[in-house]
Amino acid sequence: MTMIKRDPSFELKKHLSSNWANDDAFLTAVFNALSFSFPKGEKFFMNSVRAFKDEVSKEMSEEIRMFCIQEATHTREHIKYNKLLCELKGYDLEDLEDVFIKKLEKSHTNKIDNKIRLAITTAMEHITASMGASMLKGNLVKSDNPVADMWKWHSLEEVEHRISCIRCL
Ligand SMILES: [Fe+2]
Ligand SMILES: [Fe+2]
Repeated sequence: MTMIKRDPSFELKKHLSSNWANDDAFLTAVFNALSFSFPKGEKFFMNSVRAFKDEVSKEMSEEIRMFCIQEATHTREHIKYNKLLCELKGYDLEDLEDVFIKKLEKSHTNKIDNKIRLAITTAMEHITASMGASMLKGNLVKSDNPVADMWKWHSLEEVEHRISCIRCL
């Protein structure tokens, strides 16, 4: 599947403080928590593939570039989402992101080389693509609102990443 550059934006304010996912507080909280993992997580993914950009074919190098464009756009939209959610709900953004920062810091040691980081990214991309496919089939969120639309857009692009990441290994 080819990766495509898209540049959407979503009107989140009206719905983000509600139980926007199926009117279900638990499911909404799961997705909101997941959103806090993306800015730091996606940075890790982008760095792990960029580490190989000079060692791969021209075609693969272009796939790395498109992957990074898509992930950077996800990060941009999730930063907006997370800030707005914190404003609306009174959450502490730093506290919520800290959990992921501490975990990712552990991956930047000499014991973990670029191939291991790439393997971690590939595994995570497989998980996000599987979740994305379920989302697109309507198995996870059935709601129709701009917050759900944002997750569907992110899901579609995660499905596009799976094949490219497997080819990188
Ligand atoms: Fe992403
Ligand atoms: Fe991805």
